[in-house]
Amino acid sequence: MNITKLKVSAEIEHIKAIMSGYQAYQILTAALGLKVFDWLESRGSAHHEEITASLGINGMFSRSFLQSLVDMKLLVKTGENYSNSPIASSVLISSSLGYQGDWFKNTGSPTSKWSDLTETLLAKEPSISEFNAGPSKKFIQAIAQRSLQGELQAVTSAIRSWEGFSQASSLIDIGGGHGLYTIALCQSHPTLQGLVFDKPHVIGFANEFIEHYGLSERISTQGGDALSDNLGTGFDIAIIAHLLYKFRKQLPEFFRQLNSTVKPGGIIVSNHWFCNPGCVMEEDGAGVQNLERAIQSSGHPLCHSEEFSALFKQNGFSIIYKLDMPSAYGTSQLHIAVKNDH
Ligand SMILES: C[S@@+](CC[C@H](N)C(=O)[O-])C[C@H]1O[C@@H](n2cnc3c(N)ncnc32)[C@H](O)[C@@H]1O
Repeated sequence: MNITKLKVSAEIEHIKAIMSGYQAYQILTAALGLKVFDWLESRGSAHHEEITASLGINGMFSRSFLQSLVDMKLLVKTGENYSNSPIASSVLISSSLGYQGDWFKNTGSPTSKWSDLTETLLAKEPSISEFNAGPSKKFIQAIAQRSLQGELQAVTSAIRSWEGFSQASSLIDIGGGHGLYTIALCQSHPTLQGLVFDKPHVIGFANEFIEHYGLSERISTQGGDALSDNLGTGFDIAIIAHLLYKFRKQLPEFFRQLNSTVKPGGIIVSNHWFCNPGCVMEEDGAGVQNLERAIQSSGHPLCHSEEFSALFKQNGFSIIYKLDMPSAYGTSQLHIAVKNDH
């Protein structure tokens, strides 16, 4: 009971380190909100007083705020001047192809499942929003940026290595969201025509990406419910990426309709996270990543990879590639299956 004998130094350093992660997240979120990196990119380098005045930062905080960004290796300080670090120039400039700011901010946004993790953990069922309630434009932008961290490049590279790719003329991306998979494949095939299928309110977001990349002539969009609406027939390629978690109980019905969506000799491309056999947790240290994956996949990645593989066979497809893909939250599994002729 003697307070003078209490020793917490080692323990509190550990807790402080955890708290500094939260503080660093907020510092970068504020810097993105204040457009520090965009502003400095256009200026090259600026004196701290000029930054403070131009961005409207209270002078009482400006030095420590800017120094925090230096400590986080996002700014470089030379004398009294600051400039963007190579990391900031590469992924934090909103006009650049590699921009990751929306993906970063999304985790802390009020609608993120991380923002009230207690509520997320206590919910008896993962909250699946009404058909028209989500996803928001910001979420689609976040997913688009997430896919560009390497997953999209790996998945589209595998599709391009399929022997039928150069002869393919049509592609559907079911639950395509931003449409970047279709855009990337049309960029590497001069005549391929793409269709991005998603919820009606998401189609406008996809159209903005398609227009941005100048591919409106070759990529169209269609709004609907992938589970109940007609997806069309006779495509050479059907892509389904990170869509099926919500449909885990309806997979046989969903796969049945895919049979007519793809023409004989064409392929289905599925890219999803799967849990380990028996849903056992893997190595220590992967807890946060696995929690993120659970949150991003409506509570749980897909289970029973073998049963999933069997669905292709039962519906007239033969798997030609089963590959591990790098994703922002660990490995996802790519299945590419070709539709049999009979
Ligand atoms: C997690 S995002 C994946 C986007 C993209 N395929 C990717 O991997 O980056 C899931 C997408 O599926 C769409 N989606 C969800 N339910 C759908 C449904 N019933 N019909 C059509 N699209 C749906 C969402 O609107 C969202 O764009």
